Formats: sequence, C-alpha cells, structure tokens
Amino acid sequence: MQVTNKSFCTDTLIIGDSLKILSNWQSESIDLVITSPPYFQQRDYGNGEQGIGNEKSEAEYLYNLLTIFEECVRVTKPTGTIVFNLGDKYIEGGLSLLPYKFAIRAIESKKVFLVNQVIWSKSNPTPRQDKRKLIQATEPFFIFAKTKNYYFNIDNYLKHLDNFKKANKNKPSEKLGKHYFELIEKSDLSDAEKENANKALQEAILAVHRGEIDGFRMKIRGIHKEAYGGMDGGRNQQIRRNGFTIIKILGNRLKKDIIECPVEITKDNAHPAVYPLYIVQELIKLLSKENDVVLDPFCGSGTTCIAAKNLNRRYIGIDINPEYVSLAQKRLQEADFCQELFI
Ligand SMILES: C[S@@+](CC[C@H](N)C(=O)[O-])C[C@H]1O[C@@H](n2cnc3c(N)ncnc32)[C@H](O)[C@@H]1O
Repeated sequence: MQVTNKSFCTDTLIIGDSLKILSNWQSESIDLVITSPPYFQQRDYGNGEQGIGNEKSEAEYLYNLLTIFEECVRVTKPTGTIVFNLGDKYIEGGLSLLPYKFAIRAIESKKVFLVNQVIWSKSNPTPRQDKRKLIQATEPFFIFAKTKNYYFNIDNYLKHLDNFKKANKNKPSEKLGKHYFELIEKSDLSDAEKENANKALQEAILAVHRGEIDGFRMKIRGIHKEAYGGMDGGRNQQIRRNGFTIIKILGNRLKKDIIECPVEITKDNAHPAVYPLYIVQELIKLLSKENDVVLDPFCGSGTTCIAAKNLNRRYIGIDINPEYVSLAQKRLQEADFCQELFI
C-alpha cells in the first residue's frame, strides 16, 4: 500500500542520501523518527563520500550527523519525537563519548530537549580480550521531543512484562505491613497522629490486597530515618507534619529507562549492524499510535520498518546503499510471519 502525503509516500523504502531526500520534504509531517546512524569509523558500509561514518575526524562526523538530525527535527510534527541510537568508540585507548557529544550538541540547539536516554543493556555483548577494560555492554537510545506536547503512551511500553507479572503474582502475605502497627504504637506520635497513621496503614494494606498497588513502605517520625537524607521535600514535610508517610510501590507502572535485550544475530541477514526489533517495537509503542508515520533515515536492513508494519504504523525507510534497501524489502515481505518471534 502506498499513501501519498504531498512530498512523500508511506509504506515505502527509498534509496538515497537521507540529507538530500529529507531537505525536499515538508516540515512537521512525521510522527516518529527512530534510527541508528552509522557509528564513527566503525564499519565501511561501502557508501563512499556521501555515507555517514567514514569521516576523517570526530568533528566532521558530528557536523554531518547533526545536519541530518536537524532535518529530522524539522520534518517531525510538534507532537512527535526523534530517537537516535548511537554507540561509543575507543579512540587511543579511551572512550570518545561521541553519543553524548552528539546529544549535548543536539539539545544546545534549543530546538529539542531530551526526554530520556533509554539504555540498551546487551545480554550477549561482543567479548573482548582486553584485561584492563570491562566489556562494553550498553548503548543509549536518545529520545528527543520538540514540544512538551509530545505523544507518550507509557502504558503500552513493555506491557507484556506487566501482564507476565500479574499472571505470576502471589497472594499478599497475611503478615503484610503488620509490624508497622507495632512501630506506630511504640513511637512518640500523639494519640491523634497514631490514629491517623493506623488508618492510613490499614488502607495501604487493603490497596495491596485489592491489587491497586504492589506494596508500600512506611516511615514513622522518630523511628525511621527521614527521606532523602533529611533534605527538605514533600515526604519529610509529611513526616514532620503528620508523624508518618506511606510510599506506595506501583509495581507494573514503574517503567525504567533501561531495557535488556540481546544483540541480533540473524544468520540470514547480510547487514552488519542490525539493531534489535524488540527495542524498536517497544519504543514505537511508547511514542506513536496506530497509523502514525514512522521514519528511519538510515534504515539498513529495515528493522524499524518491520517494527512499524508489525504494529500497524506507516513506515518510510531511507538508505543510501541499494543492496540494503533490497534486503529490507525482502525482510518486509516476510515480516508478517516473524512478529511472534520477538515477544
Ligand atoms: C547502523 S546501520 C542501520 C542498521 C539498521 N538499524 C538495521 O537494523 O538494519 C546505518 C545505515 O546507514 C546507511 N547510511 C550511511 N550514510 C547514509 C546516508 N547519508 N543516507 C542514508 N543512509 C546512509 C548505511 O548504508 C547503513 O545501512
């Protein structure tokens, strides 16, 4: 299916230099950009001068990358987000921190702000022989937004883990929270404060039994240490004013900025740097709705496009290398059959 959108079609792959292609597109037309550009001097994708990644200096690489990033920002809607995944590199024995240099420069432009850096923790990182360095097993996915009105569906992110947790949840123990009653009694709270603390504790216990919260912790004045090392804040004000505070643990709603996933090792994919379909799918669920347009300006073997197709989003993939675009096309044709593999 091809849907015309003035200057571009969706559900399509384009061969070419993404800077040249994007510069012809209308502004504010894409819902989500998600991509993994070539890392600095890491691989030769055989793209000659126009290919990103083979620049002679870091400065030149950052300049080229930020120029394309600016175009990505321009074509993104005010409600949209731009996600860049970058890897670091050792230069003369030290980490270059290039991903962070890129992110700092990107936010210094003032056209975007950083919503999160989601850390990909690799469960099967490449082993190294170096006995004086730990194995590098993380990479950031930077999520940039243009306005505070960015689309963000936190409930859809890693939802299968919530469902898994619910299905495997044990009944709360009968003893849950009971020792706090004893601590309240032992404390130097006034009678009125003790009554309120007991009521609030009873309510928290019931909330766990009803499945509304996963658990809780209570802090009682004179018994427990103050929160945040005693620094002023809402919790400590509650402890000082009411004699106690209850911290609710919202279990499945605790969505962290870290995601664990293996590096893709697919022997029938000839692309040398495929990123994980699983992470891309989760980010697409977090940052877009069905039918939204998802763009990958460095689409390689088409992982982003497959993820978008699997999730009923429209996709546009651009790559300068025609061989990778054919590979992406082939993977997309087979994509309907592989979705279940990544759950
Ligand atoms: C890290 S790979 C992307 C891999 C992809 N995420 C996947 O899962 O297959 C980066 C890609 O950017 C492409 N590329 C390099 N310079 C480009 C440019 N100026 N315009 C478009 N694509 C480019 C390379 O050919 C390469 O396939």
